[in-house]
Amino acid sequence: MSRATIASMSSPAFASIDTVSAALAAHGYIPDRSLATTVFLAVRLGRPVFLEGEPGVGKTALASTLATILGTELIRLQCYEGLDVHTALYEWNYPRQMLEVRLQEARGLARERIGTDIFTEAFLLERPLLRAIRSEGPAPAVLLIDEVDRADEEFEAFLLEVLSEFQVTIPELGTIRARRVPLVVLTSNRTRELHDALKRRCLYHWIDYPDVAKEVAIVQARLPGIAARLAGQLAFFMQRIRHEDLHKRPGVAETLDWAEALLALGAADLDPATVDATLGCILKYKADQDRLRAAGIDRLLGDARQAREFAASPMTR
Ligand SMILES: Nc1ncnc2c1ncn2[C@@H]1O[C@H](COP(=O)(O)OP(=O)(O)OP(=O)(O)O)[C@@H](O)[C@H]1O
Ligand SMILES: [Mg+2]
Repeated sequence: MSRATIASMSSPAFASIDTVSAALAAHGYIPDRSLATTVFLAVRLGRPVFLEGEPGVGKTALASTLATILGTELIRLQCYEGLDVHTALYEWNYPRQMLEVRLQEARGLARERIGTDIFTEAFLLERPLLRAIRSEGPAPAVLLIDEVDRADEEFEAFLLEVLSEFQVTIPELGTIRARRVPLVVLTSNRTRELHDALKRRCLYHWIDYPDVAKEVAIVQARLPGIAARLAGQLAFFMQRIRHEDLHKRPGVAETLDWAEALLALGAADLDPATVDATLGCILKYKADQDRLRAAGIDRLLGDARQAREFAASPMTR
């Protein structure tokens, strides 16, 4: 299928980049301008979005938010090592086929006719890729191919074929073409590089850790009950500790977990004792916790406070 054909089959649901930003924000997802631009173009041109970024920075959440906005189904293909084409595309319902053959035998069907009609729609098990290709609309389905870097290279080659053609051939049933090209979102944590051929098909976007303003906005969007002051303290502290040499730097997911825990504890401020007691919300390795305690939680909090005061000073406003 040519790019022009694919583009003409995907509906331009968003009038402008601002519409994308506003819709995402209205659904609790805070995008950068460049991410909103990528989404706008992906929908307009019918191209897959390829998102890379550290864990917990909102890759998966973007796809699910888009499905909610478009009022369409989120079809998710979770990738893992050893994922094969059949698990991703379709399988035959083997137990049901066997049962059918037994029933036909019991009914005394002529031997040559037994099992001749068991490769039909009734025995087909749709898996995510086929479901996405066959989805009827009216809005295109959102197909999330999550953590594609975990799948094997052969699978990646197969994906490339599916994403180029949006059609599959099932030998017993024939070729099935997409009527509505799904909005495809691929994500990767970059445990390995993907092939250039796959990347070339996609619009690429790297999601970085958010800056302070964005992280405050995310916390407030996800936990509307939180005081602006605590949200600010959290965001600055997270920003500060991401500069430390940690085995696993905390993402937005950890910030949100932490904010929720602090709300549950009724904490109004970040103080060293509270941070120490709740460190497990943001650092999941003992070595990282030890490192932070050794660096001095008071000192890190002090740095974060200074940065906050600087950001709030009239000079920088
Ligand atoms: N920009 C954002 N706006 C609103 N919420 C966000 C944003 N970024 C991240 N989040 C929230 O952070 C959490 C983690 O996001 P998500 O699961 O999408 O991360 P991910 O990048 O897919 O991580 P992983 O690589 O570990 O799968 C979710 O609760 C998500 O809603
Ligand atoms: Mg994810």
